[in-house]
Amino acid sequence: MANIFTSSIGKKLIMSITGAFLVLFLTFHMLMNGALVFSDEAYDAIVNFLGANWYALIGTVILAAGVVIHFIYAIILTLQNRRARGKIRYAEAKREPNVEWTSKNMFVLGLVVICGLLLHLYNFWYNMQWTEIMGEHTNSLGMGPKDGAVMVRDLFSHLGYVIVYLVWLVGIWFHLTHGVWSMLHTVGWNSKVWMKRLRCISYILATLIVGGFALTVIIIYIQGLM
Ligand code: HEM
Repeated sequence: MANIFTSSIGKKLIMSITGAFLVLFLTFHMLMNGALVFSDEAYDAIVNFLGANWYALIGTVILAAGVVIHFIYAIILTLQNRRARGKIRYAEAKREPNVEWTSKNMFVLGLVVICGLLLHLYNFWYNMQWTEIMGEHTNSLGMGPKDGAVMVRDLFSHLGYVIVYLVWLVGIWFHLTHGVWSMLHTVGWNSKVWMKRLRCISYILATLIVGGFALTVIIIYIQGLM
């Protein structure tokens, strides 16, 4: 019997399940960060409700597992596809106009997403939750680990960081448009009629999530100038 961890469709299913979970997290995270545009107090209340409490720590561990599994299976699937296509990889890709740029570059885009994520985790997670776990009262920025609003506003007062985050978000947008489509496709919505609809749903979802993050970054930068 084909095993979910080893069969090709099983691996894609694992990518889809972890991907769906990460999309859910992103939606929540985007809405939560959006609150900062309206109120520093509301934002700090949410951040401190999560903080380094046991439920937030469990959430972080599950989230990290989701990212790691998604990444490992992405590597396995990419290597497997390359092996299967062998030397005719490039010639074949040229002949097939339907293979989109995003689809072909999913792995590279994933790397952009991961590099941005590492920087992001250093910017916030390390200076907040990690500092709290370590029982320290000030982080590497000289702020308290619970000063969420001040920390985010400080980072996005630098135009360089705004640009780096926007580039990262563009990478996430491309990754999501193909990822959401691929996820829905894997779970069985692959009829001719649904293909176009799925493509449309993926673009809308990716644009709403990434647009929300991008707007937050830009508005916070503008608020900092006023
Ligand atoms: C407007 C843009 C963003 C802002 C202002 C922001 C802010 C923050 C802050 C303040 C934290 C630490 C506090 C917390 O854990 O809630 C955090 C953690 C985190 N962020 Fe973001 N974020 C943004 C975009 C993103 C994006 C686009 C991703 C993913 C691609 C992401 C992934 C994460 C992850 C994985 C954590 C660690 C969560 C945990 O500790 O459980 N963030 N972010």
